[in-house]
Amino acid sequence: MTAALPPHLEAASPHVMNTYGRLPIALSHGQGCRVWDINGKSYLDGLGGIAVNTLGHNHPRLVAALQAQIGQMIHCSNYYHIPLQETLAAKLVELSGLENVFFCSTGLEANEAALKLARKFGHDKGIDFPEVVVYEKAFHGRSIATLSATGNPKVQAGFGPLVEGFIRVPLNDIEAIKAATAHNPNVVAVFFEAIQGEGGVHPMDDQYLRDVRQLCDERDWLLMIDEVQCGMGRTGKWFAHQWSGIKPDVMPLAKGLGSGVPIGAVVAGPKAAHIFQPGNHGTTFGGNPLAMRAGVETIRIMEEDGLIANAVQTGDHLRAAFTRELGGLAGLKEIRGRGLMLGIELTIPCGELLKRAADQGLLISVTADSVIRLVPSLIMTIAEADEMVAILCPLIHQFLQEKAVS
Ligand SMILES: Cc1ncc(COP(=O)(O)O)c(C=O)c1O
Repeated sequence: MTAALPPHLEAASPHVMNTYGRLPIALSHGQGCRVWDINGKSYLDGLGGIAVNTLGHNHPRLVAALQAQIGQMIHCSNYYHIPLQETLAAKLVELSGLENVFFCSTGLEANEAALKLARKFGHDKGIDFPEVVVYEKAFHGRSIATLSATGNPKVQAGFGPLVEGFIRVPLNDIEAIKAATAHNPNVVAVFFEAIQGEGGVHPMDDQYLRDVRQLCDERDWLLMIDEVQCGMGRTGKWFAHQWSGIKPDVMPLAKGLGSGVPIGAVVAGPKAAHIFQPGNHGTTFGGNPLAMRAGVETIRIMEEDGLIANAVQTGDHLRAAFTRELGGLAGLKEIRGRGLMLGIELTIPCGELLKRAADQGLLISVTADSVIRLVPSLIMTIAEADEMVAILCPLIHQFLQEKAVS
């Protein structure tokens, strides 16, 4: 059983706004792919702070670099040049093959910036009511604009009126996008996640990415790929769209880029790199020295330690193990994903598994009601992957049996 919480944490806090359905667990510290709660119980971390803790917890080289940076400078204003922004931007440009970068602090902010780029791209060529193509099941954040772009009515409920200017299409259907945009001169961009995360780990097909790239080129639209969750090495490439061989015009990043320090970035290719001019966009915390140092060191350690190769190796191992243990099981719909971004979809809602897995010492997430999502740190070893399978698979078998799914 999960150890008891102190009484003041048993119920929703009277002081912290009640926006999350939390498990009755309070984490205290972590090491590598393992975390401990305040009662000393340990958990294998299959969630990585929702695809954030790229280097795991308490990585010695990241911690040392961040400590040094804190002693030097945490924050300064964008009134001044920040050399670490140059360093991180140059690295992201090298890895993506794009041109320049705007820094912010979260995923939704990166997506807001992308949407502003798309609108200004339109206005600059005389389109007064620019429209952006977005997708069913998409998740882009919880600001008013990004929740409007999100394809989940639950996220939008209660927050209308939604922002105008979105056209919604299904995934992986090039004819649908052509039909939805036919004779519409206001379209300026297509915006999607290369692998949808919150929507249930749904990958866009490589061929579909190539087809959309071609369509964007033909119609002079921006191709904007939200790599907030699937980017930063998780799928076995620096960015998930790179499996298809194409380049986007705009690529929002966040989550794993700072290995836990809040950071966001919008990487732009030549078509989008010069749309913003001084005064068009900005944010106080964006690109501050601490966040930049986190980004620089995260990428450096990923390169030095071969973590992208590890994501492929451990991810392939996990996928093969899940297929072996769960394949053919009544109640299993599909195992999806790439590298260390895996979804196991059941035929029934399975949110209960969160607590059951935690009781057994494993942190996971369940998204889109019935998809078990695993997005662990990229340092996860084969032995830890095996431990995850050994805990999770019997739980899934038992759960489906109890629910009489046969
Ligand atoms: C693909 C994607 N885009 C955007 C966001 C929003 O990021 P943030 O929560 O940092 O605002 C998320 C968060 O889950 C995401 O998965």
